[in-house]
Amino acid sequence: MIIAIDGPAGSGKSTVAKRVAERLGILYVDTGAMYRALTHKAMEKGLDLKDEAALINMAKDTEIELVLDKNNKLTVFLDGRDVSAHIRTPELTNNIRYVAPIPGVRREMVKMQRRAAREGKGAVLEGRDIGTVVFPDADKKFYLDADFQERVKRRHKELVEVGMNVDLINIKEDVERRDKSDMERKTAPLRRADDAAVIDTTKLSIEETVEKILSCL
Ligand code: DC
Repeated sequence: MIIAIDGPAGSGKSTVAKRVAERLGILYVDTGAMYRALTHKAMEKGLDLKDEAALINMAKDTEIELVLDKNNKLTVFLDGRDVSAHIRTPELTNNIRYVAPIPGVRREMVKMQRRAAREGKGAVLEGRDIGTVVFPDADKKFYLDADFQERVKRRHKELVEVGMNVDLINIKEDVERRDKSDMERKTAPLRRADDAAVIDTTKLSIEETVEKILSCL
């Protein structure tokens, strides 16, 4: 069984997808973490983020593995190294918009995502293009959304919880910039697949959203 969950930053996808996977006893694949890990590698290597050919070559030569422990904590391995602590900084988040729109990079990521999803007896994948590109034949597709202000508030809370000192204005700009870059890029832009169920999570708790998804299966 393949379940696709797409939506913009702060729509609640990650926590919800993780819980749905846990309840169903299937794999959870955070595709955003893969784009983050790849961006981390490019920055670490000091690559010119505008050099598409270099970024594609790097992507071809990269292995990313996602491991969820029994406490639901995700560890991201980049070429065998745990980079989980480095992939959520505002600077890196801002740089993903140079890496994620490149078609050759996305091709490599999609291959890796399909491989990861097929390792178990089923998977919940979350991202921006799961229902449209990665698994257009997914058994079930969901598109999560929430009001802009609510999404900003959630992103802020998430970052504060991992000990980052960020102010609301910067988060607002970050979410705005990311919405624009995710929705307006030419390759695999964020959009609802025609057959995806839309869930507005603005007024829903995580548990309510999880229940809603499970009741659709
Ligand atoms: O879900 P996230 O915030 O961790 O994702 C980080 C960025 O990665 C997001 O702004 C766009 C990119 N991304 C993508 O282009 N395609 C995906 N399937 C998942 C994420």
